[in-house]
Amino acid sequence: MSETPVKVAVTGAAGQICYSLLFRIASGSLLGDRPVELRLLEITPALKALEGVVMELEDGAFPNLTNVVVGDDPLKVFEGANLAMLVGAMPRKAGMERGDLLGANGKIFTAQGKALNEVAADDIKVLVTGNPANTNALIAMNNAPDIPNERFTALTRLDHNRAKAQLAKKLGVGVGAVTHMTIWGNHSSTQYPDVFHALVNGSAPQVDEEWIENDFIPTVAKRGAAIINARGASSAASAANATVECMHDWVLGTPEGDWVSMSVPSDGSYGVPEGLISSFPVTTKDGAYEIVQGLELNDFSQAKLDATIAEMADEKQAVTELGLI
Ligand code: NAD
Ligand code: LMR
Repeated sequence: MSETPVKVAVTGAAGQICYSLLFRIASGSLLGDRPVELRLLEITPALKALEGVVMELEDGAFPNLTNVVVGDDPLKVFEGANLAMLVGAMPRKAGMERGDLLGANGKIFTAQGKALNEVAADDIKVLVTGNPANTNALIAMNNAPDIPNERFTALTRLDHNRAKAQLAKKLGVGVGAVTHMTIWGNHSSTQYPDVFHALVNGSAPQVDEEWIENDFIPTVAKRGAAIINARGASSAASAANATVECMHDWVLGTPEGDWVSMSVPSDGSYGVPEGLISSFPVTTKDGAYEIVQGLELNDFSQAKLDATIAEMADEKQAVTELGLI
């Protein structure tokens, strides 16, 4: 008997991230040699453009893409979804912080949280890429009372990958030599990319604090803005890659002996208050993640973590006042 296709719901399907993401999912980067059904959500005016994307998916002749369902009604598109990648949201423009998008984007995630709660499969896993990702995930989670909170996550894998790449470049090694990288906190300019636990070829990286503070951290934390300034549009292919990698690892497990960064509902670890969705180092196995425990945070790291916690708490307060949670 042939394997049942995994139903993968993706929002913002006619947008720039999805123009890369959908083809990666269809070609097997997400789940390997498993049949998938894509369930694509867009707003009504974008359905025509999405038709073209669907034609291109067809023209890819992907053996594992069994079906593509398209629509503008989340209650229909999310029906039976096993995995949901919530990408659809407005990107920021030059000069904006990601948090400035809360008013415009937050309400998308109330409706989608409610729809997932109604119609998604019991094993649904939700990854939010649309910005401000952590707080949007919090909104979706709070609007889906029947789905366990731990199934709602937000994307900080792009920041994780950026941090690995910057460290590798500094030391003149391949990016594969870098392990145990951590992004703490919010997917915003307050995030804390932490090299103090990172390893390069299994050893502590030889980098000085001046470089960490004045080069590495701002480069990683402000990389999204640098790309917007250079490209005139926010990161897309690298965001699609990170979205695929994050969901891949959540479903299929992290490599033995390493961890990845994922924004997940806090259980109070490292003093991050419960009720926030924050980036942590996690390992994943059998479709579940665990926050890595026992890492020592020095005073510098603790101050950085405190600052990003304060921002996540402020965003939560703002969406509470907007009546979104
Ligand atoms: P885009 O504007 O090219 O595409 C967004 C798409 O979402 C559009 O086609 C739009 O019609 C659609 N959309 C809007 N409201 C929707 C709704 N209610 N339901 C379904 N679809 C809806 O933007 P993009 O470049 O693809 O970026 C998407 C989001 O991802 C932005 O918020 C961006 O800031 C964010 N992003 C996050 C990361 C990250 O690391 N977390 C990285 C890059 C981009
Ligand atoms: C990114 O990190 O590239 C995205 O979140 C887009 C942005 O607004 O920075």
